[in-house]
Amino acid sequence: MGERRRKVTVADVLAMKSQGRKIVSVTAYDYPTALLADRAEVDIILVGDSGGMVVLGYPDTRPVTMEEMLIMCKAVSRGASRALLVGDMPFMSYQASVEEALRNAGRFIKEGGMDAVKIEGGAEQAGVVKALTRAGIPVMAHIGFTPQSTPTLQGYRVQGRTAQSAQRLLEDALALQEAGAFSIVLEMVTSEAAELISRSLRIPTIGIGAGPHCDGQVLVLHDILGLYERFTPKFAKRYRNLAGEILAALQEYRADVLNGRFPGEDHVFHMAPEEVEKLSPLRRP
Ligand code: KIV
Repeated sequence: MGERRRKVTVADVLAMKSQGRKIVSVTAYDYPTALLADRAEVDIILVGDSGGMVVLGYPDTRPVTMEEMLIMCKAVSRGASRALLVGDMPFMSYQASVEEALRNAGRFIKEGGMDAVKIEGGAEQAGVVKALTRAGIPVMAHIGFTPQSTPTLQGYRVQGRTAQSAQRLLEDALALQEAGAFSIVLEMVTSEAAELISRSLRIPTIGIGAGPHCDGQVLVLHDILGLYERFTPKFAKRYRNLAGEILAALQEYRADVLNGRFPGEDHVFHMAPEEVEKLSPLRRP
């Protein structure tokens, strides 16, 4: 598939799977990084609830609110015009009832400027996926390690380590596909289970810590850039150390101000000499 600037659609993402073209996705939470992700031609920008942690500083993804997610979505939608934009529905914005899920998902589309939403959970969320899809809201599902619920239920554990657990994941994936999901994130799933699921589905799998056999990959932007120092998951590849770069820049700036090296001549505005002359009477001897 030739690269192009036109907007990526759900149909394009489905076609990528059938053409064997890997799908590239990354998270973004603000305008400047959305612009850059778009310029890098990633296919899907996910405004993840991970933004609650890496941008807003919450200890996990559960405290982030609808309003906070919408602020991040709006910023991303102002920056990105090409990528398919997926907004991550925060904890308790879709679990209480299908009606609430519909109302909140609608806000992601109408107010947040998103093209689709993502929800966590397996077959038990099929009703929500079906209702959203029927309402014209494309849904990306998310199974395996699900940060909104798995840590409290099972701890930070890789999913699909046994044949039985892989089979359960496959059943969830098939139910979500049947309900209308256009793709499924597989998080922290063994490579073998992810391969089985990817081969069994018509819709693409997007892996994060799920090995090379998924139809696409997603990473948290701050992990790629080395911007989140609290921890980097084993599965994330750090391509740069921007935290180190930013710290060095701020330390240089501080030293320059303290030593009088900043502002220098390049950063100063001057009056015309004849105007300076007029100041002479005002100057104290
Ligand atoms: O919130 C997020 O960034 C996610 C990805 C890990 C898939 O859900």
